[in-house]
Amino acid sequence: MTVKPVLIATRALPVAVEARANRTYQFHAAPETEPVPVSILAARTRETGARGVIITPTDRVDATVVAALPDTVAVIATFSVGYEHVDVAAAEARGILVTNTPGVLTEATADIALLLLLGAARRASEGERMMRAGAWTGWTPTQLMGTHLNGKRLGILGMGRIGLALAHRARALGMEIHYHNRSELDRSEAGDARYHARPEDLLAVADALSLHFPATPQTLKFLNTERLSLLPRGAIVVNTARGAVVDDEALIAALKSGQVAAAGLDVYDGEPKANPAYASLPNTFLLPHLGSATVETREAMGFKALDNLDAYFEGRTPPNRILPNT
Ligand code: DGY
Repeated sequence: MTVKPVLIATRALPVAVEARANRTYQFHAAPETEPVPVSILAARTRETGARGVIITPTDRVDATVVAALPDTVAVIATFSVGYEHVDVAAAEARGILVTNTPGVLTEATADIALLLLLGAARRASEGERMMRAGAWTGWTPTQLMGTHLNGKRLGILGMGRIGLALAHRARALGMEIHYHNRSELDRSEAGDARYHARPEDLLAVADALSLHFPATPQTLKFLNTERLSLLPRGAIVVNTARGAVVDDEALIAALKSGQVAAAGLDVYDGEPKANPAYASLPNTFLLPHLGSATVETREAMGFKALDNLDAYFEGRTPPNRILPNT
């Protein structure tokens, strides 16, 4: 009888994902109340003899964490498409493969980007708070007036799968789509979206701006004071990508001055902490990194992580292996 490889997870996974993991592996789940922080990841992998580890964007697996892992660990599967939290080069140097889960969270994340866009533009957070506080005194012609989206220009910075899916949704709102990407997309993909070869040129026309690019050393604090000043005054800013690509102090100043009318944010630099000013400002619409949080999507992400692990343990190259420096 073949011995099932030992697999551990740092967090509780959707039930269907844990059920499948239990069928194929000697699976050590992390109950919801007992996550495995990276500080004890080496000890946990050593005591279980784990060959595979499922981690999440919350787990910062840097070079020090990688160095402490026992030699048994052969593959790290992150339950996410983003992988800025893993030192892939350090893992590869130790012969540990790293995989991610691209392609399955496109629609869910684009939905949240649309929600943030609408929520920020229409002051949903203020309205909701008013209702919950029992503070609504009745309809008035000037109450909580927001920004009209129909006919406005949506600037999509990073026209990958999620950017395209957001463009599709925003067209239904009657928005004009503009984008910047490393390269111009074929008309068959981009449709009527207008390409801007420089991000700065996109910013200049973006009545609403949505960010869709990864956090890398080159993109940290990309949206800074200078770039925010290029936006038309009163623009809306939406971020479902990574908090680190925004200079928080600069965005907060722009929200206070009115340069940015409102921001819809799902991701924050230093999660789960977020700059406290965001919560104190009336013109922010804030979610706790819910981009992929639907049952269907989280199951698909888990199954993809398992597909990658299965491939590795069956002697195949995992379909979503991340190569260093990609
Ligand atoms: C990812 O997969 O990187 C997402 O941020 C999780 O929602």
